[in-house]
Amino acid sequence: MNSPRIFAGSSNPQLAQLVSQRAKISLGKVELGKFADGEIDVWVKDDVNNSNVFIFQSNSSPVNDNIIELSLIADALRRSGAHKITAVIPYFGYSRKEKQNRSGEPISAKVIADLIIASGINKVVCLDLHADAIVGFFDVPVIYLSALNVLAERLKMEKLINPVVVAPDVGGVKRARNFATLLNAPLAVIEKHRQTHVRDEMEVLSITGEMSGDTAIIIDDIISTGGTIIESVKSLEKRKVKRIIVCATHGVFANYAVENLQDSKIEKIFVTDSVAQQPSPTKKASKIETVSIAGLIADCLKEEI
Ligand code: R5P
Repeated sequence: MNSPRIFAGSSNPQLAQLVSQRAKISLGKVELGKFADGEIDVWVKDDVNNSNVFIFQSNSSPVNDNIIELSLIADALRRSGAHKITAVIPYFGYSRKEKQNRSGEPISAKVIADLIIASGINKVVCLDLHADAIVGFFDVPVIYLSALNVLAERLKMEKLINPVVVAPDVGGVKRARNFATLLNAPLAVIEKHRQTHVRDEMEVLSITGEMSGDTAIIIDDIISTGGTIIESVKSLEKRKVKRIIVCATHGVFANYAVENLQDSKIEKIFVTDSVAQQPSPTKKASKIETVSIAGLIADCLKEEI
């Protein structure tokens, strides 16, 4: 059997490199490119016959390109005789469309899971999906990791006084409760309403639960436009919270998220490196700190080889 290899897609080679070093699994050689018409091309240059291989790809921006690239790498590895292909997908894009909110809509997370698996993937490693049920959308075994521990350990270093963990919506209550347990803090929940006719926009309705703490720690799975967090911050400000800290597994930071979050009352935002961070062209992201999940994934991969 050839030695195991990690093949990094274009989305997050930095994380793949870190995991490769920590898990002591070499990076495989793969050429990634595009044809003039925009079609993606990949070429696996290593001999992977009869070996265990891992593909690293987050479905972050450019989302659709990264999904296709992942599928093409998997197909190339399968046709080269790889014994077992594991897709490590730290951020699974399209996860927020995991059910129909109204008739006529697709269940996009299921479509993307099917598409990826159809390319020959035998196992999936993923992290803090928008909804746990998505694990069942993959018709292969899934290792489901959570970054909550990593984020909680980093937060403990801040020595926050009298903190309250806040779920920014009802769908995030389970995640927030788990985080509150890790931090030994009480929980509050914001009820938000997303307008189905306007994409990416929401309004806050009310806050329930303990809200007497000095420091609010908002925990979410994804920060995309930052709208959910900004609206949550506005309601917390009305409650005279002194400090606001934000944690999220996936820092997508679409559109003007970085600018809007930098300009808000938020003191600090902790995200993981599930999505590779690009420098904002207009504003320094001084409030954003990235906490690495490389150790978490490396420990998982060591068990798989
Ligand atoms: C939605 O339910 C998710 O948990 C996040 O709150 C949401 O995806 C964040 O998106 P945005 O930053 O665009 O408000």
